[in-house]
Amino acid sequence: MSIFKDHISAMEAYKPPLEGRDGQRFILLDFNERTIPVSPAIKQALVDFIHSDRIQQYPNYGNITGQLAEYCGVTSDQVAITNGSDHGIELAIRGVCREGDQAIIPGPTFAIYSQVAKVEGLSIVSPEYTQQGGYPIDEVIAAITDKTRLIVAANPNNPCGTPISLSDIERLAVAAPNAVILVDECYYEYTRLTAKSLIENYKNIVITRTFSKTWGMPSLRFGYVITCKENINAILVMRGPYDINQLAVVAASAALNDPEYTEQYIQEVMGQSKPLLESFLAEKGINFWKSVANYILVYFDNPENIKRALETAGILVRPRVDNQGKTALRITFGTLEQTQKLISVLNDLI
Ligand SMILES: Cc1ncc(COP(=O)(O)O)c(C=O)c1O
Repeated sequence: MSIFKDHISAMEAYKPPLEGRDGQRFILLDFNERTIPVSPAIKQALVDFIHSDRIQQYPNYGNITGQLAEYCGVTSDQVAITNGSDHGIELAIRGVCREGDQAIIPGPTFAIYSQVAKVEGLSIVSPEYTQQGGYPIDEVIAAITDKTRLIVAANPNNPCGTPISLSDIERLAVAAPNAVILVDECYYEYTRLTAKSLIENYKNIVITRTFSKTWGMPSLRFGYVITCKENINAILVMRGPYDINQLAVVAASAALNDPEYTEQYIQEVMGQSKPLLESFLAEKGINFWKSVANYILVYFDNPENIKRALETAGILVRPRVDNQGKTALRITFGTLEQTQKLISVLNDLI
């Protein structure tokens, strides 16, 4: 018998398939990561920190919040740093929802929302994304009850890359004033879509962002929340004073000082690799979800064979199951060269 709550003891841990992800052997197009290393400036900042002999001291976050606020175009009291955006997601859900409340989490989507919702004892409703309609806004609004405390608006959604419009986010905020509207902007720099203009007027909007994707440092775990000042106070009450590793702060600060390096990669991925792969798939008549992100969800006739053959050719992609139970492959857009290699392998397979 476990001393933990029954419903938690009955759950499985979320275990992403990390085994065998050898970046020396494979082009890693399976986790929506940046596919090339971080800038020399970030590496240098980390090395300098290690040699400054401060590892024995507790973290001191300095002006990182101010730096982020300036980058985001909000005030410092509208930002809080977190240990990756998973942490921000968790804090927002834990801080707002009570056991027995309802969560509306459109699917298919990123697993952490429902993992946290289940830990908090919420009942989950999952209207479906569709290739034609995108975010199921009418179904979500129809599902709202006086028990609704969480509505997820991933912008864009993972795995399908679907955006949600600012006006639909506003509709959610109006329709469910007692719920947190969780706007997950994990891929913000690829999409430039943001709900930050709504946070002053709608105190129920909480935006989460990360340095894991575009900025290329998922191993360091650095994210942040953007929301109104009152919500930031609540987040800081729940968040530990040292929850974020000092090395993550050092690296994020160096990255913000050198945005060009990240911008160049975004241009290559979104301006070259994405259209190239999309036109190849369209030419071959292969069905895929229209994406605004650095990844695409593709329906091959024989996904398992394609996945295995790509792996043999040195490329990893990730199978994802949609709401109909159909398996698709989620493919991250990498550099132009990596995309050309992917296309050449796919071309031989199809
Ligand atoms: C939509 C979405 N939100 C959040 C995350 C988590 O990111 P982080 O590494 O910042 O916790 C991911 C990671 O894949 C994601 O796809």
